Amino acid sequence: MENIHPIFEKLLGTTQKEKLLGQRAIVVWLIGLSGSGKSTLARALENSLYKEGFHTALLDGDNLRTGVNNNLGFSSEDRVENIRRAAEVAKLIADNGTIAICSLITPTEEIRTMSRKILGEYYYEVFVECPLEVCERRDVKGLYKKARSGEIKDFTGIDSPFEDPANPDLVVDTDKLNEKESLDLLLSNILSKVRK
Ligand code: ADX
Repeated sequence: MENIHPIFEKLLGTTQKEKLLGQRAIVVWLIGLSGSGKSTLARALENSLYKEGFHTALLDGDNLRTGVNNNLGFSSEDRVENIRRAAEVAKLIADNGTIAICSLITPTEEIRTMSRKILGEYYYEVFVECPLEVCERRDVKGLYKKARSGEIKDFTGIDSPFEDPANPDLVVDTDKLNEKESLDLLLSNILSKVRK
């Protein structure tokens, strides 16, 4: 770090950019098992915010793993690095006044503590809750089947841990709520945060 000279304080400020965009920047961090509905909710949230006139960016775990995180796998070390990079990117987005919507499994409390630390005040944690049996029954991508047969190793919820978040800002139970109800709950909470 000794030869690095950041210029953060010389940049145009977040407040000025938030004012230009007419919104408050936050990072909505959706946590949950594969198949819990994170990506569906993230996309629906982004569409609704767009219609309401808010500027957003969506960071999805699978998408990031095709680009900035394409050298990472699913060991616990790689998951930490995966989330660290996602959180740092989300911070850059929020620093520029834009609402970031992040949809990543984010399996452990240790990892969440790290992203909360990186994101500070921006961080808004949403637990997209759905029992493992239900995610497995849905098996949208056919990955649980592969994990059960041993074709995929270290699969979250099967042979890699997932801890329920202890203190999420919001819980959306996609087993009990349908898609519209889940979105309504999420959207109303987010609108109250992002409105100036
Ligand atoms: S995280 O644990 O590091 O937060 P992330 O959200 O980026 O995970 O990626 C999860 C996605 O990768 C899943 O939605 C699934 O499509 C895919 N995937 C492939 N292998 C695994 C695995 N072993 N465990 C979990 N997800 C996997």
